[in-house]
Amino acid sequence: MTMLWLCLLAGAVSITWFRRRQQAQNRIPVVNGSDGIISSYLTAFHFLRNAEEVLEQGYYQFPDGVFRVPTLLRWDYVANGVARIAEVAAAPDDVLSFHQGIGDNIQADWTMGMPITRNPFHGHAIRGGLTRNLARCFPQVMEELVCAFDEVLALEDTEWKLLPVLPNTMQIVARISSRLFVGLPLCRNQEYLNFNINYTINIFIRGRIIALLPDVLKPILSPFIAARDTLIRRTLSFVGPLIEERLKDENQLGPEWEDKPNDLVSWLLELAEGEERTSAALALRMLAVNMAAIHSTSTALTSALYDLTTYSSYIEPLRAEAERVVRQEGWTKAAINNMHRIDSFLRESQRLNGSKLIALPRKVIAKEGFTFSDGTFIPYGAILGVSGRVVHYDPANYENADTFDGFRFSRVRESEGDGCVQRPMVATGVDHLSFGHGPHACPGRFFAAMELKAMLAHVLVNYDLRAEKEGVRPPNMGIGLHISPSRKGRIWMRKRQI
Ligand code: HEM
Repeated sequence: MTMLWLCLLAGAVSITWFRRRQQAQNRIPVVNGSDGIISSYLTAFHFLRNAEEVLEQGYYQFPDGVFRVPTLLRWDYVANGVARIAEVAAAPDDVLSFHQGIGDNIQADWTMGMPITRNPFHGHAIRGGLTRNLARCFPQVMEELVCAFDEVLALEDTEWKLLPVLPNTMQIVARISSRLFVGLPLCRNQEYLNFNINYTINIFIRGRIIALLPDVLKPILSPFIAARDTLIRRTLSFVGPLIEERLKDENQLGPEWEDKPNDLVSWLLELAEGEERTSAALALRMLAVNMAAIHSTSTALTSALYDLTTYSSYIEPLRAEAERVVRQEGWTKAAINNMHRIDSFLRESQRLNGSKLIALPRKVIAKEGFTFSDGTFIPYGAILGVSGRVVHYDPANYENADTFDGFRFSRVRESEGDGCVQRPMVATGVDHLSFGHGPHACPGRFFAAMELKAMLAHVLVNYDLRAEKEGVRPPNMGIGLHISPSRKGRIWMRKRQI
C-alpha cells in the first residue's frame, strides 16, 4: 500500500514538473528571476515571500505589457494597462473562464462541485433577487445589526474595552447576512454561524491540497479530500427544514404566494431548475453565497475600523454626517445612500487595502489559447489576471496615491454638486478593482456597500473608539498572493459618552 502511494506521489510530482517545464517555454518576460530548470523554483520561492514587490516591479517595467510569475506548480500571467484590463474583463467565458479562474485557488470544481462553477446561477440570484429587495429588507438588516453589535461586543456601561477586530467583525457580518439569507431564528444560531465562517477556511485548505495533485488524479482523490457530502450533510442539519418547507410550499402554491418569505432560498428558487431544486443542491448554493459574502465584507469592515482609528480626525466629521442624515431621514436605505462622506471613506479604505494583488483572475479554457488584440498569446490552461493593488497606488491614477484621503471621492461631489461624475463605493473601473470589473464585477457589492455604510454609521453614532497605539495601523499580513488586514489587530471601544 505504501508503495502504491509512493508511486502515485512520484507520478504526481513528475507530471506537475513536466507541465510546469512546458509552460516555461514562452516568450512572455519573467520579472525578477528566470525560467531555468532550477532557477525558476528559486524565483518562485522569492515570489512567494515578496509577491507585492515583484508585482510592482512588473507593473512599472511593462506598463502596457504582460509578464509571468512562477509559483511552485505553474506559471501565472499578469497583464497591465487600461486596454488589457478592459480586454480581460470583457473576454467571453468560453475563452477566459471567470469561475474556473476565481475557483482555481480553492479548486472549486472539486471542493464545491462542477455545478457551482459550470452553472453559477446563484450569482444571478444575488444580482436579481437580493439587490432588488435591498430597500425592503433594510429594516431587518438594521435590526440585526444593532442587536449583533450589542451582543458580540458586549460593552457595559462606560468602560473602555480592547477588542480584537477581525473575530468580532466576522461574527457581526455573518449574523447580518444570515438574517437576510435565512432569517430568524437561524441567523442567531452560533453553531450555524461558526460553521459558515469556518467553511471558507475549510475549503481553502482542502483546495490547496487538491491543487498539488496532477489533473489525472483529481477525480479519483479529491472526493476524499474535499468531503463534500459530509459538509453538505452538516449544512442540511441547519438549513434542511427551511428548504424542504419552502419546496413544499412552492409545489403546493406555485412560485408566487402571499407572505412568501423574502430570503435567499426564495431568490435561488426563482432561478433553480431541474436537479438544482433539491435540498442538497440548494444548500450548496447557500454555502457558496455565504462564502462570497462573509469574509470579504468582514475584512473590509476590519480595514475601515483600522483606518478610522489610525486617522482619527475623520471620526467627528463622519459622525456628524451620520447624525445629520439620520435626524432628517431616520435609519433607512435612502438615508444610507445619502451618507456620501462615509461612502468615500470606505472606498478610500478599499482603495488602499481592499484589492487583491492580482485582480480579475481568469483561466484560459479555449483550446486555442487567448490572444490579446496586439497578438500577445496566453496558452490554454494558464491563469491570467491583471495587476490589482498596485493600480490603486499608481500616481497616474490618484493624486498623492500613497496617502489616505478619506474624503477623496466625496470632495468632488461636494464642490461640484450632484451632477458631477461620481465615484461611489460600488463603482468599478480600470483604476478601482476591489469589486472586480466588467460583466463579473461582484454582484453582492450593492448589499455589501449598504451593509458596510450602515455598520460604520452605527459604530460612529453609538460608540467611542481609538487605536490600540495612537497613529499605528495594525500591519497587513499575508503570504504569496494573499494579503489581508491583521487578524490580531485590536482597537479600544466603549459605549458612546455624550
Ligand atoms: C466588501 C465586500 C466584497 C468584496 C470586496 C467582494 C469582491 C468580489 C470580487 C473581487 C469578485 C470577483 C470579480 C471579478 O473577478 O471580476 C466578486 C465576485 C462575487 N461576489 Fe463579491 N465581494 C464582496 C461582497 C460580496 C457579497 C456580500 C456577496 C453576496 C451577497 C458577494 C457575492 C459575490 C458573487 C456571487 C461573486 C461571483 C460573481 C459571478 O458569478 O459573476 N460578494 N466579489
